[in-house]
Parts: sequence; structure tokens; C-alpha cells
Amino acid sequence: MRADKLRLENFRNYEEQEIEFGPKINVIHGDNAQGKTNLLEAVHMFSLGRSNRTAKDAELIRHGCSDAKIALDYAAYDRESRFEIELGRNKRKSITYNDIPVRKNSELLGKFNVVYFGPELMGLVKEGPRGRRRNFDMLISQLRPNYFSALSNLRRVVESKNALLRMSEPNRSLLEIMNEKLVSYSAEIIGYRIEFIRRVEKLAAEIQSEISGGREELKYRYMSCIGRVDVENDMTPDEIGERLREKIKAAEPRELDSGETIISPHREDIAFEINGKDARSFASQGQQKTIVLVQKLAEVRLIRDEISETPVLLLDDILSELDRNRRRFVMKCIDDMQIIITCTDLEEFSETMDGGGEINKIYVSGGRAERQP
Ligand SMILES: Nc1ncnc2c1ncn2[C@@H]1O[C@H](COP(=O)(O)OP(=O)(O)O)[C@@H](O)[C@H]1O
Ligand SMILES: [Mg+2]
Repeated sequence: MRADKLRLENFRNYEEQEIEFGPKINVIHGDNAQGKTNLLEAVHMFSLGRSNRTAKDAELIRHGCSDAKIALDYAAYDRESRFEIELGRNKRKSITYNDIPVRKNSELLGKFNVVYFGPELMGLVKEGPRGRRRNFDMLISQLRPNYFSALSNLRRVVESKNALLRMSEPNRSLLEIMNEKLVSYSAEIIGYRIEFIRRVEKLAAEIQSEISGGREELKYRYMSCIGRVDVENDMTPDEIGERLREKIKAAEPRELDSGETIISPHREDIAFEINGKDARSFASQGQQKTIVLVQKLAEVRLIRDEISETPVLLLDDILSELDRNRRRFVMKCIDDMQIIITCTDLEEFSETMDGGGEINKIYVSGGRAERQP
């Protein structure tokens, strides 16, 4: 997969901008707050139809403007395609794929794949479960549109169920109906999570052992809302559904009491373990960085295995976070794919590269980007 040309109109701090990417390494450099991350965000938009930084589309529109438009020309599966996304303050987002309207966001998924790694992910190991869930959600959604739909459906059911739980006399049969919907979406989500955690774990274990010389074993601990799940063992949707029903029944008094849905995949955790210990409490700074790096490289391999194309790797200001060995390792793993990388210091980057490979340099300043020789 290869992003060729990005066009921005009133997106973030860009007024009108066209950027051409090279097939291999693209380095976007410039001072802070100039618009480097905004470019990665724009590219990322085409993988999920939404930003990886904000849930509010209005934030993406340039201050003082009513509409924004972004377009990407890219190559994948031996053909060239074009995506366009239009955002307006007073209208619905509209997306076209090769000039054909995309009516549902889930129809966009899977056509353009990225793996993103930015500084905010450095807290992935130690911070709360939300980020870890989101990370898996973004991966699975790119490959399984049904997963994305199940997540949005679940969100809606949880909202209605919470509203019902907060009533003074909740209607029991309505609660039953909602619980059944919740069970069906949740079983689907949990099934996908089991599959993907297992697959990421296999790939991550290989990479982790390469990077640590076999000293460290990385595993995932899936703390599902139905209890801890051993991802090595498949569960049928019916089995998952049964466990969900039991859990929901047992939690009912607490749910009624708190006015909150307690049993649902939106409260799960997918935690990391190093050599059998919970990385959240034990991992050192260095180990945490390695874990996230390994997770990201595993995502790259997983997507490649799945679609027989390499995703575009977006690295936001990450090299400065990694030591020399880890940087080298990254560069070694990705030498056959397109990467778009941002940094403030081009020197630092060249040092890692040892002058190897052809690099497309893009300089960004005050919402303007220009290609450099
Ligand atoms: N909707 C917007 N309209 C105009 N400017 C914006 C908008 N959103 C963000 N910005 C500006 O974009 C800049 C940050 O861009 P960013 O890409 O995050 O910087 P960096 O180069 O450090 O990665 C800031 O100056 C911010 O004010
Ligand atoms: Mg930035």
C-alpha cells in the first residue's frame, strides 16, 4: 500500500496544500506546532474515516472556515484509488471512494490501512485500559468492518441501557430486550478480540524475542467482561453469549444501583505481561517502550498477513523516544514498506538511517509543507 498524494483544504492549520509522498521513507520535519502531526492525522483519516486524535470532526476544520476537504491518491492491490472526505460544521461528513459515495463509514474500512505510532502511545502499557482497548479497536476495525459496526451498535445500546437503568422504575421487559442486544453485539466483539489478541500475541512473541535476544516473553492478558479469557482456546459465540447472560444477571443489582452498564466489552482490558508478570506494575521505562514498539511491529505483520499488502506506517515524533538499538531495529523491520515519519531534528534522523535508502523530505512551517531536494 502506498500513499501517493495528499490534498488538504482548510484542514487543521492548512489552507490549501498538496503533498506528494515517495514510495519508501518520507520524513516530515519542522519546529513544534507547525502542522507535522496534522499531516499524519489527515492520512490516518482514510483508514477509519475519522481522526485518531479527536472524536469531534469540527476540530479538524480550519478555524474560521465552515468546510474542510481532504483527498488521498493511493496505490494498493495493483490499482490506484482515490478517497475524498468532506467535513462541514453544519452538515454530515461525506466520503467518496473513486468518486462513488460511501454511505456508511463501515464501507470505507479495509481499503486503506495504516499502523500509527505516536508519543501518546508511550503510556499504553501503564495507563488505563481505555488506550489499550482503543488500540486493538483501531486495528481490528481496519480489517473487520463488522467489528466496527458492532462497536457502534454496542455504544448505542449501552447508552440506552444506562438511561433505562437510571429511571426510578426501569421497565423489566425493556431491560431484557436491551440485554439480549447487548449480548449479541458483545459476543461478536469478544470473539474478534480473542482472535486478534491470539494472532498479535504470536507475532509479538517472535518480535519481542528478536529484540530482547530471547530473554523476555511478551504475552497478553485478556481481562474480558466475562472474566479472564484464555485466547488459545476458541469459544463459540453461543458459549460467549451464555457467559455474558450469567454475568449480566449476577451484576443486575449493582447495575440498577449504580445506573451504569457494568458487564460490557467497553470495560475490558487487554493488558501486557512480561515473563508472566503484569507489565502495568513491573515494566521499566525501557521495557514499556519495547512493548509498544513490538505491538506496533506485530500490527504491521498482522495486516500484511491478512491482506497481502503492507500498511503505511505512520511514526509521529517517535525516534527521539527510542534509543539507537531500537531505532535500528525499527528501520530493519520496515525496509520494504512506505513510512511517513515526523521529527523536529532531521540530523537525528539521518544518524539512524546511516544514509541508506532514498528519503523524501518534507519541510513544514506554519501550515505550509514543501518538498525538499
Ligand atoms: N482547526 C484548526 N484550525 C487552525 N489551526 C489548527 C487547528 N487545529 C490545530 N491547529 C494548529 O495546528 C498546530 C499544531 O499542529 P501539529 O501538527 O499538531 O504540530 P506539530 O508540527 O508539532 O506536529 C497548532 O499551531 C494548532 O494551533
Ligand atoms: Mg506533532
